[in-house]
Amino acid sequence: MHPAVIIIIKRTAFQIAMQAAELFAETAVEAVKKSGQFSVAVSGGDTPRLFFHLLTKNPFHSRIPWEKTDIFWVDERCVPVNHPASNFGTARVGFLDLLPLPKQRIHPMPGELMPEQGAQVYEKELICFFELKNGNLPAFDLIFLGMGKDGHTASIFPGQPSLDEKNKLVLPVMGGEPNVDRLTLTLPVLNNAGKVVFIVTALSKERTIRKVLAGDPCDLPAVKVNPVHGELIWMITGDPALLGDA
Ligand code: 6PG
Repeated sequence: MHPAVIIIIKRTAFQIAMQAAELFAETAVEAVKKSGQFSVAVSGGDTPRLFFHLLTKNPFHSRIPWEKTDIFWVDERCVPVNHPASNFGTARVGFLDLLPLPKQRIHPMPGELMPEQGAQVYEKELICFFELKNGNLPAFDLIFLGMGKDGHTASIFPGQPSLDEKNKLVLPVMGGEPNVDRLTLTLPVLNNAGKVVFIVTALSKERTIRKVLAGDPCDLPAVKVNPVHGELIWMITGDPALLGDA
């Protein structure tokens, strides 16, 4: 496990969502002060919904320099945007549609394209946005991840080749629930961020969380998220007693 991992355990999802919104606001202000912009990548799934909602409300909404914020996704299901499984589609309503974000600062993954083509298009978008040369990696200021009971994160699933990808920034994969074609950022990109934050509701995932935080030398994708230069933070909704000395 990352030597400087920060673990925050709270009993309610609201407390964790507040922590996540505070970190988002704090990091955004810091990033804009330092570099004039803030780049963040978010996950799909259910857990981030409450956190997204809080970002549309004060005290967070007014603190965040939205006009200098660029939002990306860590993964996307290859379905039409109006499909209920679309991460971007579900983020539009009650989150993106309430933010004063210029359209060009919202960077959905092209889930409507054929997966291979979509991966290439998004990879090109990252190269252009981060002005990458000679195989450099994008350096997001902040990445929010979830984790499945099987230890997957983004759309990097156990036992898949994506676990060992060293060069590509975005891959077409298949799996998860729903078991569909997907696009995912790769581990080199996740591990090059300034801050990587897992937001996980322990319920039914306690065993996996304990394994990951204990740094079990296993092949769970979430164990392989160890930012090279950045901070790793786990925000967990659950009972500290159940999570052992996590
Ligand atoms: C996805 C997500 C995925 C998610 C986990 C946890 O597109 O499915 O990015 O990695 O974060 O599956 O999902 P929940 O938050 O719904 O538990």
